[in-house]
Amino acid sequence: MKEIAELVIPWLEEAASVLREKMLEPLEVETKSGRNDLVTNLDKATQAFLVGKIQEHFPEDDILGEESGFNQEVDWQKRVWIIDPIDGTLNFVLQKQNFCIMLALYEKRQSRLGFIYDVMAGKLYWGGRDLGVYCNQEKLRPPKAMRLADGLLGMNAYLYAHNLCNAQAVGDATAGVRIMGCAGLEMIAILTGQQVGYLSNLQPWDYAPGCALLDAFGIPYTGADKAPLNFSGRQPFIALSQPAFAEFQKSF
Ligand code: IPD
Ligand code: CA
Ligand code: CA
Repeated sequence: MKEIAELVIPWLEEAASVLREKMLEPLEVETKSGRNDLVTNLDKATQAFLVGKIQEHFPEDDILGEESGFNQEVDWQKRVWIIDPIDGTLNFVLQKQNFCIMLALYEKRQSRLGFIYDVMAGKLYWGGRDLGVYCNQEKLRPPKAMRLADGLLGMNAYLYAHNLCNAQAVGDATAGVRIMGCAGLEMIAILTGQQVGYLSNLQPWDYAPGCALLDAFGIPYTGADKAPLNFSGRQPFIALSQPAFAEFQKSF
């Protein structure tokens, strides 16, 4: 896996550097499912670039990607690459920061590698169950274990505002709620111990890269409402530090 990671990292460096340059030009923005669900020319170009690299080096592997052409069913018995070319597109368009490029490699539904590139911070979080977790060249130590009350909980705004999945009660049990609008950054916040967890409603490309890194640290996650993650369509998602996860499973 180390060799594959070393092959992939320069792809992401190149994709990030192109994004930083091209985002200064006028963006072509289209809506998808609604006025807050955006896709830009750079989401499409980044996905096309990563698809091209994967198909060149691993023609046998399947690809699941957020943008059109690749967001259909894949054969999970094969190796599957999962691409979220820009996670936090609304932030990308409106803030020009707080977005990530994300990529994961799964094999028989098991995570192998995850990559989350915080583009404007220039920080690539990467690794997997065989490698541990790195930020650029630095190997990270697992975050300290936290109970719900010990830490901040990342949350999806809609889920919190509409109190889905017991969101308000879970939030009240923590030190406080934070909303970033970027699943990748929420995952980074858990990996670095800045947050106790993340409660959201996600697609496979939103959670697969982060889950590969959570697996490397043994940090638990599940579909909320007691359903396992199914890697198909949008579903509630929760990841929490182990003690907080045990509390969540007992009380919510
Ligand atoms: C979205 C972001 C957001 C989360 C949404 C995702 P996108 O991804 O991660 O934080 O709340 O559920 O769809 O569409 O910007 O790649
Ligand atoms: Ca996206
Ligand atoms: Ca996303």
